[in-house]
Amino acid sequence: MRLGWWGLACAVALGACDGGGGDAGTMDGGAPAVDAARDYVPEPFEPTAETRAYCAGDDDAIEARITTLLGQLSVAEKIALMHGVGTAVVERTWLVEGNEAYGIPGLHMLDGPRGLSAFTEANGTAFPVGMMRGATWDPALEERVGAAMAREIQSVGADVLLAPTINILRHPRWGRAQETYSEDVHHLGAMGVGFILGVQSEGVIASVKHYAANSIEDTRHTVDVTVDERTLREIYLPHFRRAVQDARAGSVMSAYNQVNGLYCDLNGHLLTDILRDEWGFAGFVESDWILGTHGDGESVTAGLDIEMPSPTEFRFMQRALAAGEITEPDLDDAVRHILRAQFCFGLDTRERVLDDPSARETAEHLALAREVATRGIVLLRNEAGALPLAPTASVVVVGRNADVENIGDEGSSDVSSSEVITALEGLAAQGTSVTHLTSSALSAADEATVAAADAVVVVTGLTSDDEGEADIGAGDREDLLLPAAEIALIEAVAALNPRVIVVLEGGSAILVEGWVDDVEAIVHAFYPGSQGGHAIADVLFGVEAPAGRLPFSVPTQEADLPPFDNTSPGVTYGYFHGYRHLDNEGLSPRYPFGFGLTYTTFAYANLSLAASSVAPDGSLTVTVDVTNTGATRARETVQLYVAAIGSRVPRAPQDLRAFGQVELDPAETQTVELTVPASDLAFYDVDASAWEVEAIEYEVRVGPHSADTPLRETFRVE
Ligand code: BGC
Repeated sequence: MRLGWWGLACAVALGACDGGGGDAGTMDGGAPAVDAARDYVPEPFEPTAETRAYCAGDDDAIEARITTLLGQLSVAEKIALMHGVGTAVVERTWLVEGNEAYGIPGLHMLDGPRGLSAFTEANGTAFPVGMMRGATWDPALEERVGAAMAREIQSVGADVLLAPTINILRHPRWGRAQETYSEDVHHLGAMGVGFILGVQSEGVIASVKHYAANSIEDTRHTVDVTVDERTLREIYLPHFRRAVQDARAGSVMSAYNQVNGLYCDLNGHLLTDILRDEWGFAGFVESDWILGTHGDGESVTAGLDIEMPSPTEFRFMQRALAAGEITEPDLDDAVRHILRAQFCFGLDTRERVLDDPSARETAEHLALAREVATRGIVLLRNEAGALPLAPTASVVVVGRNADVENIGDEGSSDVSSSEVITALEGLAAQGTSVTHLTSSALSAADEATVAAADAVVVVTGLTSDDEGEADIGAGDREDLLLPAAEIALIEAVAALNPRVIVVLEGGSAILVEGWVDDVEAIVHAFYPGSQGGHAIADVLFGVEAPAGRLPFSVPTQEADLPPFDNTSPGVTYGYFHGYRHLDNEGLSPRYPFGFGLTYTTFAYANLSLAASSVAPDGSLTVTVDVTNTGATRARETVQLYVAAIGSRVPRAPQDLRAFGQVELDPAETQTVELTVPASDLAFYDVDASAWEVEAIEYEVRVGPHSADTPLRETFRVE
């Protein structure tokens, strides 16, 4: 039984987190029950445009049914709907009980961002981690991943998927970098929307996490993130807004950390002012697990609906009611959010499948995992035609990750798969002469083997020992370097053989300075999932041309990034990080955001803007011709950045505002069309508490990555 760190944290820090049982409505700390003689008429509720958009079912009937239930359920019964039942999974899911007598099905939650949670004790498809899927720059592909993951968690009776993680990658040392998609707001939002649409197309509720500004592991339970309102609105929240408004995510998970002095579950500015009142979120908010809820009535009034995984705080809800700190209509708001999700997603009308092994690790899902991994591998360097390798080449494989099932963090996102194809197994399946050297300390015989080989593949990088979720995994990274022994190995083989290909595994940026010039090729292969070894071989042997593009910048030194502080009780997040920071400081990265090579070259021409000016509520259509100028069919990701010229507020030199893909045969040209809504150009005017699309000139910059945007045109917002 995997109790995880939760059981431990409860035992050590909190006493019995479960409060002695599941029914917090009766755990009132001695306060009198307020619902002894019940004569209660709930407030009526008129569906709004947002609740209608949220609800896939007959929303008028559903809201009326909820109103009726709110008049029938006792206070204790309402509170019982608002928390999980314990610190361990119950029959394979994190359970929020329903109430059979009233036809309320409850919620059955499971992680996680890369597949069926290992907590469920069933094997599932380990998809490539989120950051690798981000490297595909393909929201439609991500939609297919979301749908597949939803089918797998449904096969063990779950109806809420605790994913996607859409916290921005503020710094690559963040231990959970691998779970999210990007350092860029626009790219992150697009990928998150794709995933949610896929999950929810299967009738599963997606829970976007962790709201908000959650990007440090080691101090995650306490750290207070100070962030000015404009930075919060423009950098830390836009992707959550898109998840809610564009994808109608069913649920949001509040983060552990504090934002501007208030824990996220107590943060009415985040949970109510912004999420509910401005964005119109109609689903439920649940806390992050244990240590994620800090109040009873106070959290509910701030906007928290469900305490997970057990009623550590919510068991005192009757006390809060008796003390007048919260009213029954406040509870009703929370219960309405919870019931709306259950009924609108049809959880009350469909049979829960408790175990359907035939839906897990299906041929289709495994093929998808391989496709995504192949698409996400980023070719960073390729000198002297080192790649692709001929399948007949004699290849020596070395490195700490060569024969390791390296699929990522062992925290809440962990997945158990029946079989994980390592890089070595993948290469051996496709190459005709693959030799594995198991030791990083090369013997004289090993040195001779290395020297005689056509190529040496060093499979290295990080593992779950180096980065992951805090408490149950490794936490934050100590630096951005490869382990010293691996650098020594790279240098040792490079001294013996000129054709060295380095396969880097890891959640985000790994510095290559010091050894990059000693090797001919580098690919970044992330944590590529259970089919990852096949994907690595597909790319190295040229079965597929590499298509991944970096969803983060790789600097030349950590000092070029904003500081990462995972020890202080408080941190301040500024407006700039990632490529926006590097551009703003005039620093050149080793590999820019959006960068990735392939086995051909592309030419860009004929940038055309459909108009020279657009209205603040309009949008600009841009077209560009892309030609494959090499000899290999390959996929290009066209990236569009915008610079605001003459803005009255500080801006980043450029921001990604659109991207698209095209797959081209040699000599083929296609026109790629991209759209930029003018509203995406807005800045948040703190004085006016409003977004403003400035009527100024903007420059559109189009090209293959953030540091190469040769085609440029200006337009105005009028
Ligand atoms: C993590 C969440 C996860 C939850 C349940 C927490 O520790 O932060 O991302 O969904 O556990 O497993």
